[in-house]
Amino acid sequence: MPASTHQDPGLLSNDVARFISPGVDPSTLPRSFALVEPLPALGPVPDSWRTAPTFECNCNTFIANIPIDPETSLYGTGEVAGPMLRNGFVTECWAKQPFRIEKDGKPAPQYDEKSKSLYHAHPWVLAVRTDGSAFGVLADTTYRLEIDLRDGIRLSSAQPFPVLVIESGSPQRLVERLSDLTGRIELPPRWTLGYHQCRFSYYPDARVRELAEEFRKRKLPCDVIWVDIHYMDAYKVFTFDPAGFPDPKATNDFLHGLGFKSVWILDPAIKAEAGYSVYDEGVAEGHFLSDAQGHEHHEWTWPGDAAFPDYTRPETRAWWTRLTAEFLEHGMDGVWVDLNEPSPILPLGAELPETLRHRSGGDITPGTHAQYHNVYGLLMSKATHDAMRKARPSRRPFVLTRSSYLGGQRYAATWTGDNSSTWEHLHWSVPMALNLGLSGQPYSGPDVGGFAGTPSPELFAHWMGVGALLPFFRTHNALHGDQEPWSFGERTERQSRLALARRYRLLPYLYTLFHDAATTGLPVVRPLFFADAADLSLREEDHAFLLGNDVLVQPQLLKAKTHAFALPKGHWRSFTLAGEDPVADPAHPVLRLRDGAILPVGPGGQTSDEAFEGPLTLIVSLDHAGQASGHLYEDAGDGFGYLEGDYLRTTYRAVLRDGVVEIGIAQQEGQRPHPARALHVELLTDAGLVRASGIDGQVMMVQ
Ligand code: NOJ
Repeated sequence: MPASTHQDPGLLSNDVARFISPGVDPSTLPRSFALVEPLPALGPVPDSWRTAPTFECNCNTFIANIPIDPETSLYGTGEVAGPMLRNGFVTECWAKQPFRIEKDGKPAPQYDEKSKSLYHAHPWVLAVRTDGSAFGVLADTTYRLEIDLRDGIRLSSAQPFPVLVIESGSPQRLVERLSDLTGRIELPPRWTLGYHQCRFSYYPDARVRELAEEFRKRKLPCDVIWVDIHYMDAYKVFTFDPAGFPDPKATNDFLHGLGFKSVWILDPAIKAEAGYSVYDEGVAEGHFLSDAQGHEHHEWTWPGDAAFPDYTRPETRAWWTRLTAEFLEHGMDGVWVDLNEPSPILPLGAELPETLRHRSGGDITPGTHAQYHNVYGLLMSKATHDAMRKARPSRRPFVLTRSSYLGGQRYAATWTGDNSSTWEHLHWSVPMALNLGLSGQPYSGPDVGGFAGTPSPELFAHWMGVGALLPFFRTHNALHGDQEPWSFGERTERQSRLALARRYRLLPYLYTLFHDAATTGLPVVRPLFFADAADLSLREEDHAFLLGNDVLVQPQLLKAKTHAFALPKGHWRSFTLAGEDPVADPAHPVLRLRDGAILPVGPGGQTSDEAFEGPLTLIVSLDHAGQASGHLYEDAGDGFGYLEGDYLRTTYRAVLRDGVVEIGIAQQEGQRPHPARALHVELLTDAGLVRASGIDGQVMMVQ
């Protein structure tokens, strides 16, 4: 069939249009999983519409081509390794545990920039034109989809799919619009913004306790200890190893006593063993995936032969929710859901057959695994998130998932899977978090130090340095070697301590950014081109990044080399935190503040609770007109009172008049009383730093 122009287009709002391949009856297309709610068409797409796909159909492959102007920059496509700029790359939306064959012929569960698919599926491309305007392309399908960005945008799938095009004046506005359509994160509990220590696995319970005590003894800030699969009895989910973890409630009580929270892992696969109550229930209630003949399907996973819950069934999600809520009675504070692409363990690279049947229910129609594979992780996240709400109605849920789909940020945060302890993966930690943010998921981070392999002390220190400035800050590693901040000698421990001190001092600003992400969809970490979308020199910069709008982070991510950073226009003054000298140690990224910005920072501390108590510091950088402003969002840190007005959003403002800088509160929103606390001001000037102290809420004059 020859290429033809779009047919049956519909304008969904003045900036969103939907296009469908000719000859495809829209009523036959499956429901959307990406969109929060279906969008009815308002009328035909106007002739002035700038970007529209043309469709082809070749041998049962449906193709949508979206031409781009030269020098249009392409981003997004979700979780992808390699550079941030995606022009020239091919991504396959197919959730997958990636693996690589080593030179010696052995497979290794790792990925690199040639990996077409990682754990998530985000059928989404964000395009920025030379003039700084942007458009987004959303292929609204859960089926396997190839996104080929080698010559324009070419989308192909074996099933027909609608294409949504969003037009925006800027990439920021586009990401906000994406979040209107696909949802935003919930404001996470504040403790999740602290430092997390994980490993595969801390075992037994005594080791977990010892680890927690070591953090406190060494006075290294940490909020969360993670418990990986060895806590289970023979890897059976919802069980506990009687020897290693005889009393998980006592383990959690102990951690809580030292001011820690805990997150424990759950895998989807259920050991197929008669007498194991979870399996017996699953069989009796029809919760497992089966083949076309109705036989329960098994794969080889950690516990051996195992069955997989069919999360497309409402009854199965409710069952999982109940089991998880019961599990949470042992006092876990969060849940980590893993291997939910879903991935068998052996043979490496194995996947569930696409012909398996999902019986589905509710608003999900029955279908094959080919149709629902990509939303397996999203639906498992949803059921787990529901469990947290059910078990703790007055606390905010925290779920971390390995796999998800466009829109999955509504239920869970994510991390970038099994990375490696290499400098390349250290670098990719940044563009991966940036592209996830540009694809609607602002809450992500890498395994600090690398999952596979052992980092050199220098690599670990650099990873702590940059990890401390990414949204999710967790060290994690595989079975070999220790990867705690003190495992690499005194120097690395000192460097880690400084990285942690920076994180904990920045928490008030970070929390404000998470609140922005929850209300506007804007990512926590943002590409440098957000500072000036028409400046083409910023389009490829993926070492440096922005934390919010105001802080520019310049990490050294190359081994024994110095990256030459692109810099947006304006006066980005460097600043320090915690009395450090970052220039002297390349493990600590240089931090710069936008002129015209006020950055709120806290006192730091051993836990996130401490980091929100005590004096507030405002770091101020005046613009050329002698003005600056900045926001601070505060609330109880957990619970839902903030939705009823129990929060405080303060806008601070600084103005230079007659040689004196007047700093005070310009605006307050929310019903929470303003805390009585000391206020320190650090004014960055070309001549150096000027400090002053006073009381928050009162106008301060700084000379
Ligand atoms: C695979 C996950 O990616 C990794 O983070 C985890 O430690 C192992 N599964 C064991 O649970």
